[in-house]
Amino acid sequence: MEVREAIYQRRSIRAFTPEAVAKKTLLQLVDAAVQAPSARNMQPWHFVVVTGRARERLVQKLLSLYDQELAQGVVPPAMELPEPFQSRINQFLAALQSWPQGDRPVELQRGSLAFYGAPAVILVALDQRLSLDRLFDLGAAVQNLLLMAHSLGLGTCVIGIALRYVNQIRQELQLPESIHPVMTIAVGKPDATHPITAFRAGRQDLAACLTWIE
Ligand SMILES: Cc1cc2nc3c(=O)[nH]c(=O)nc-3n(C[C@H](O)[C@H](O)[C@H](O)COP(=O)(O)O)c2cc1C
Repeated sequence: MEVREAIYQRRSIRAFTPEAVAKKTLLQLVDAAVQAPSARNMQPWHFVVVTGRARERLVQKLLSLYDQELAQGVVPPAMELPEPFQSRINQFLAALQSWPQGDRPVELQRGSLAFYGAPAVILVALDQRLSLDRLFDLGAAVQNLLLMAHSLGLGTCVIGIALRYVNQIRQELQLPESIHPVMTIAVGKPDATHPITAFRAGRQDLAACLTWIE
């Protein structure tokens, strides 16, 4: 697949088949990630691949934490953001929630915390001693991973919500103090039978984010 095709076709996938992703394929994804540029070639990333029973335990943990918060009424309300970002979020959520769902609604919070049923989760972490400036490098690595996954017929969804429970994730996966988890990614085969798989988030016109100086 051409890079151009991968860039334009990729979209976040929110329904997966339970089919496991082969270890060698997951390694291929991480290998694509580390081809990304990084400042002074520091390669400040670390990847933790979670599958099988470990993934199940992680999902159970995240869902039970969320359910406890719900029961206690302490789920923090989403922070209101400045315009035009709040309107874009509202537009995205409205489009996602009104998408024809079939018999299973996509619940963004619980769905995310269950990695939408994806059989593999890749946690992306930064070396604890480095500043958050290096998140730029990790972002580039993540995009490589997403595009490589797409080119291999796999679906992905970057899941930020899970990081609300970063300390519990650390504990559950027994992560060393030396790494700071910053993002998680659901990886698996897209469930083509689920209507949400056809959902595509829109984009603003280029004019909204482009200044041209000659
Ligand atoms: C940093 C980051 C965090 C995200 N967190 C979530 C999440 O927790 N749950 C989810 O369903 N999607 C999440 N997404 C996916 C975005 O909603 C998605 O990328 C955006 O709506 C654009 O859609 P597209 O990826 O299909 O182009 C996240 C994406 C990024 C980059």
